[in-house]
Amino acid sequence: LDQGITAPDEGRLWVRDHAGDPYLKVLERFHIHLQPNTYFEVGCDRGASLALAQCASLAVDPQPRLDGVSVIGSKPVFTLCRKTSDAFFAAHDPKTMLGGPIDMAFLDGMHWCEFLLRDFINTERHCRRNSVILLHDCLPVEQPMAERVFTGTSIRGHHSQSWAGDVWRTALLLKRRRPDLQIDSYDSGPTGLVCITNLDPRSTLLSDNYALYVQEMLAENLDTMGIDALFAAMQVESTATIQDRQGISKRYWL
Ligand SMILES: C[S@@+](CC[C@H](N)C(=O)[O-])C[C@H]1O[C@@H](n2cnc3c(N)ncnc32)[C@H](O)[C@@H]1O
Repeated sequence: LDQGITAPDEGRLWVRDHAGDPYLKVLERFHIHLQPNTYFEVGCDRGASLALAQCASLAVDPQPRLDGVSVIGSKPVFTLCRKTSDAFFAAHDPKTMLGGPIDMAFLDGMHWCEFLLRDFINTERHCRRNSVILLHDCLPVEQPMAERVFTGTSIRGHHSQSWAGDVWRTALLLKRRRPDLQIDSYDSGPTGLVCITNLDPRSTLLSDNYALYVQEMLAENLDTMGIDALFAAMQVESTATIQDRQGISKRYWL
């Protein structure tokens, strides 16, 4: 803890910071070892995660801040769509824009659970079974960062600038309602990484039950459930499991 201060409610309202590798390092390993042909990103902001992709890439963000950041690298094709993900999916087919189904996606846009659910539904439709969809921020380490509104507060002080939002609810819903998916959760800093494969682009379960599932997600309460219980339900593992080609290829292949 910061300055040796003891904060109450360890486990329920806060847990130790993730001990695994930072999410950008893990993403980089996925790119290196899986070599996707196509990459799709919701929420690119300044381009830190987008810069890692070296294949045909498509990014969607209503307010990208790529100025001064080199995200092109060796991408053969790069499209940036200045739209919200909902507006993007309503008007465009990412498969057409990328020249094939999405191999790898990183969903890191609006941090409300219903937004991430829609991003997942819309992205899965354009994937193939072995594609990998990565979700950011679904494993918050403090309760304040998991609020729907960013308050700038932190139980231990050092997370006052981190906002994960309530997308943890989406990860939990997918784990419960889509047992057909392979959902792996990793202790990647600062707010976790969830990797999903064994996708079913023709599944309509989530879209058919969208309103019901949003109600179900919003009924979950992290204060009463406890972050430790969320992590147990999500079966959080160490990023050491996927730190090299062998580890990654045991679980994912494109
Ligand atoms: C946390 S930042 C993304 C960070 C980036 N992926 C990285 O790792 O460096 C979130 C981004 O999502 C974008 N965003 C917010 N609402 C969105 C929406 N409805 N659709 C797509 N992107 C959205 C914001 O403009 C912001 O740039």
